[in-house]
Amino acid sequence: MGFEKKILCIGAGYVGGPTMAVIAAKSPQVKVTVVDINEEKIKAWQTDQLPIYEPDLLAVVQKARGKNLFFSTEIEKNINDADIIFVSVNTPTKTFGEGAGKASDLQYIESTARSIIAASNSNKIVVEKSTLPVKTASALEKILNNNDKGLKFEVLSNPEFLAEGSAIRNLEFPDRVLIGSRETESGINARQQLVDIYLNWVPREKIIESNVWSSELSKLTANAFLAQKISSINSISALCEKTGADVGEISKAIGADNRIGNKFLNASIGFGGSCFKKDILNLVYICESLGLIEVAAYWEGVIKINEYQESRFVKRMLASMFNTLAGKKIALFGFAFKANTGDTRETPAYYIARQLLVERANLSITDPKAIPNAKIDLMDFVDNIKFTEDPYEAAKEADAIAVMTEWDLYKTLDYQKLFDSMRKPAFLFDGRNILDHNELMNIGFDVHAIGKSFD
Ligand code: UDX
Ligand code: ADP
Repeated sequence: MGFEKKILCIGAGYVGGPTMAVIAAKSPQVKVTVVDINEEKIKAWQTDQLPIYEPDLLAVVQKARGKNLFFSTEIEKNINDADIIFVSVNTPTKTFGEGAGKASDLQYIESTARSIIAASNSNKIVVEKSTLPVKTASALEKILNNNDKGLKFEVLSNPEFLAEGSAIRNLEFPDRVLIGSRETESGINARQQLVDIYLNWVPREKIIESNVWSSELSKLTANAFLAQKISSINSISALCEKTGADVGEISKAIGADNRIGNKFLNASIGFGGSCFKKDILNLVYICESLGLIEVAAYWEGVIKINEYQESRFVKRMLASMFNTLAGKKIALFGFAFKANTGDTRETPAYYIARQLLVERANLSITDPKAIPNAKIDLMDFVDNIKFTEDPYEAAKEADAIAVMTEWDLYKTLDYQKLFDSMRKPAFLFDGRNILDHNELMNIGFDVHAIGKSFD
């Protein structure tokens, strides 16, 4: 079958994989190929044991795979074949040199751009999908268009707003699709080609067009706003614990105001995930570089509150458990940074686990999907950690249960049975406020939750 257009995605991770699967499933006339330097990952995408856990992803992949969705390690050949190339490689925070700890490390982006030039024999549209600092498109353009083959590359910004755990829903029914381009004739033409692809399933009014810098900065700003909402409610949770107000009641009361909105007001042990911290640090770095010190400090506060929230949780555990955790067994319920994913990047559970180990606690960690990643993250500390998928096993003879991730599973466990198997007094720290605290207290647990006090 002849395809109308050939799309290539470089990078088969949490963003590239699901995004391309949905584009392929929704656009049968387009051939979509996803490449990655990681051979194992590509092999996994070719089987039903996908390299990431994401609800409903397998069904979408199965629908298109082998028809118009292909996974490959042949990067050069596929670059040359493609009309549109999405760049979805990772952009971690720089760990060295200028901007270390804040700026984005763009080495993968630059090496991708150089591979594109080396392998291309025709003009192409290159789309930034990874979250990138503002003005990266201009760097990409510079590298790409400085080629001695006379080729012209049009660079677009099309940031991805999907959240893990709900990626397929977010991709199939996006709140909006944002496409930024240069406002030249060829820029607008390239933008239209991408609009046409999204029009296969996204209503026209949900596709927002902008200049390339607005598009790049919108992605950082969206994540900064979302994270800010969580840090705001988390800061109030600290006040609640001192005053007897209940943070859940406050969320409900303020969320009823349309201007505030009721989403992202769940107080927690803190936000995790690959985007929020990285993107805010990036925003902070950009502002500092441009001399906007007050703006940088404002956004840095969002991260500081998040770190405070994590450390406050451990301090509360310590204080409640008679100021010593040495030799005590603590069961961590959940390790993923949120429910419905196996991803543990920047998970608050990691920070909490490390602090509990410093206090010489013994940990048993349970999670329905994240145990393999948790084992990698904590591989230097395995002597004091047991991993099990069974929460009852994790809690057996434990002094405390601490809920780290809001998995539905933890709402439906038999807490009487868990209580009976634990050492007494049995503590329960609900880091996600998902359990019925009155019921737990009736069973006999010594209960602590975020932004609530039960004294
Ligand atoms: C986020 C953005 O939502 C998404 O648009 C962007 O593309 C990538 O970053 P993600 O990190 O996958 O997505 O998950 P998200 O649902 O935003 O949750 C991030 C963190 O905030 C999680 O640790 C979650 O548990 C926490 N959170 C979320 C809260 O603590 N309270 C809330 O009310 C909401
Ligand atoms: P994200 O959450 O942004 O999708 P991931 O780390 O899950 O980030 O995915 C990024 C993917 O990009 C990884 O699978 C990595 O192997 C891949 N990658 C990085 N550099 C290159 C490159 N130069 N060519 C192809 N793939 C790359």
